[in-house]
Amino acid sequence: MTSTPASTVLDRVLVLEMVRVTEAAAIGASALIGRGDEKAADHAAVEAMRAALNELYMDGTVVIGEGERDEAPMLFIGEKVGAAIGRGPKIDIALDPLEGTTITAKAGPNALAVLAVAEEGNLLNAPDVYMDKLAVGPGYPEGIIDLAKSPTENVKAVAAAKGVEPGEIIVCVLDRARHAGLIAELRTLGCGVQLIPDGDVAGVIAVTDPDTTIDLYMGQGGAPEGVLAAAALRCVGGQFNGRLVFRNEDERARARKWGIADLNKIYKLEELAKGDCIFAATGVTDGSLLDGVKRLKNGVMTTESVVMRASSGTVRWVRGEHRKGD
Ligand code: FBP
Repeated sequence: MTSTPASTVLDRVLVLEMVRVTEAAAIGASALIGRGDEKAADHAAVEAMRAALNELYMDGTVVIGEGERDEAPMLFIGEKVGAAIGRGPKIDIALDPLEGTTITAKAGPNALAVLAVAEEGNLLNAPDVYMDKLAVGPGYPEGIIDLAKSPTENVKAVAAAKGVEPGEIIVCVLDRARHAGLIAELRTLGCGVQLIPDGDVAGVIAVTDPDTTIDLYMGQGGAPEGVLAAAALRCVGGQFNGRLVFRNEDERARARKWGIADLNKIYKLEELAKGDCIFAATGVTDGSLLDGVKRLKNGVMTTESVVMRASSGTVRWVRGEHRKGD
């Protein structure tokens, strides 16, 4: 990992405050777990996250959010949040109050409340399009993965560096029809393919955790989720390549509106999340990264969160026990 100087704007206090924000969103969404209503779950998470963000001493701007103003009433891109707008530290925020709306509605695994913060201008303003993603965990030579190369070439490179056969490599992929060719290519190599129904922020982060045994993440998911996952990898190590995928002229126009000139660019970690940044996530449902919210007797709820900072590389696991009014 390259060393990143600590930002004086991202106050140390803010590191732990970020957990309160993702905890609030996760608790908000948790009342809707398994209720079959994706929109209601997302809405509850958004409302709770917004209220928590507005308590923090900062001049925050949502740079990755629920969409553009006309499609998102709250936490839209460009929305100002914080209790010190115009006077506090200027902070850019990438957020996904409920990463895994369908998972939550179905009570499946790995739904998270997530956010990343950085100094103004340090997070890519990614349009809400797809992104081709390729990620590997820490401990490999820089440049070992390359989105310009085929999945086979990337698997072989990682296998050689790991000292195993390509068929021993485990790859996490979103279970989507668009990935049929990729999955077939990986199976031809004999790789283990771990298919996930949703939630590729957790899927990408899984490559950094040896317990998951996942070596690589491959495939297309949301670009905003790509920036969030990149922020996490900036903190814990690992490599990531992302390339925006445009399905029509409207999507290309959106990207140009956000100042993206090279539409075929392959983004590396530092180009998605620059400088010092903080990543926080709280589990909504149980998953590989975090336990979900548990609603116990008498209004008591427990949460599990992780918060990490790029400059220090510190990773804190936070277990919360919440009582009404907490
Ligand atoms: P939502 O929480 O917005 O539903 O996103 C879930 C997710 O699985 C992301 O993790 C992923 O990046 C994206 O959807 C993939 O999009 P699609 O479902 O269109 O393939």
